[in-house]
Amino acid sequence: MGKRANLLRKQGTRMFGCSVAILALLLPCLITSCTTDRAQADWREQSPRSYPPSVYPDRIILTWAGDPATSQAVTWRTDSTVEQGCAMIAPADPSPDFGDRAIRVQAETTRLEMDGVTACYHSVNFTRLRPNMLYAYRVGSQDTWSEWFQFRTASDRAEPFSFIYLGDAQNAILSMWSRAIRAAYSDVPDARFMVHAGDLVTAGYRDQLWGEWFEAGGWIFAMLPSILTPGNHERHGGEEDASLTPYWNAQFTLPVGRLSGLEEQTYFIDYQGVRVISLNSNEKMEEQAVWLEGVLIRNPNRWTVVTFHHPVFSTFGGRDNRRLRDLWQPLFDRYGVDLALQGHDHAYGRGCDASTDSARRRSGRGTVYVVSISGPKMYDLTRAPWMVRTAENTQLYQVITVTQDTLHYRAMTVTGKMVDAFDLVKQQDGTNLLMETMP
Ligand SMILES: [Fe+2]
Repeated sequence: MGKRANLLRKQGTRMFGCSVAILALLLPCLITSCTTDRAQADWREQSPRSYPPSVYPDRIILTWAGDPATSQAVTWRTDSTVEQGCAMIAPADPSPDFGDRAIRVQAETTRLEMDGVTACYHSVNFTRLRPNMLYAYRVGSQDTWSEWFQFRTASDRAEPFSFIYLGDAQNAILSMWSRAIRAAYSDVPDARFMVHAGDLVTAGYRDQLWGEWFEAGGWIFAMLPSILTPGNHERHGGEEDASLTPYWNAQFTLPVGRLSGLEEQTYFIDYQGVRVISLNSNEKMEEQAVWLEGVLIRNPNRWTVVTFHHPVFSTFGGRDNRRLRDLWQPLFDRYGVDLALQGHDHAYGRGCDASTDSARRRSGRGTVYVVSISGPKMYDLTRAPWMVRTAENTQLYQVITVTQDTLHYRAMTVTGKMVDAFDLVKQQDGTNLLMETMP
């Protein structure tokens, strides 16, 4: 070995010895630093980023304002210099020439000044679409277009499909809720829509939190339509005079519905044999009960799913929503609502009304109630007779697959483990047989 090689080897040994000594000195600091980081990664975590609008579209989200077989709504945001938005749509085609056949649709634009941010929200409702057709669209204005996204319209027949249900996102939305929506989409990329059961953010008037929510969902929101119902955290003001955040109507284009003051909150959407009904559990519950009865009486669909934020049966002692239960549950029972998808209690519980007679309960008849949580803020669970399955301290998403005669349900952790599964099998008389299917 030459002199130079020996020198390098000695230097290397010295440097190694030196490194070990430095590492030994630094190790306690590194461990302390890691421990501190881990302690900070809790549900209070908020991104330090702000999300100022620009001339380029962001916060792009698909929803429905009409028939999912023939229409598709999209909403997006720009800065306030873009006073006129526009969307383009064409049947999707593997050839990149599909854009030549795209038509332009002028957007409706709303200017919103909130939380120190001024922005324009643009919405387009594509209509006269063909059922069960893949379309490509983009949104923007002049030279500031989004990329092309794709969506499929619903079939005009009651064909099988899957959808995703998510409980409260609410906290650490970008940091930790993101894994719920991304795990759900990765599990069922062919799902046809997502149901969000309220409390999407913890303070509905905060622009930064909506920025996190849209960043967490990203292009999933632009490809997979959302059905949304408001929670208590989408409202602000005192207990008596609280009102829905202006962000709700600005950034979601949903059915206006027939109830004044509950526009885009209390509505229904029929999708391939399933009626999905959104109710606002924060206010005007009597008015909504009258409306709900009309919607349930005139329901040609084989399956009925309701979604609202405050649960009929709670997973937490002391959070009983008796008024809501007294008003709405009799209608669910009378008209055979199959499934209620709820949030608010930050734990998981599934079951039926425990006060019905045991033979009826064993047969699984009556609405199945679910409380779930997708974000990281957790409450303890208080065992109650209505619960069949429970989970605590667990971020979840749910996948529901509906066929002509069977509704398959599974609840999944964000790490891919099943925590609940059952089938509802529709009987000749319109009631359901509930079959537990957890392996
Ligand atoms: Fe809530």
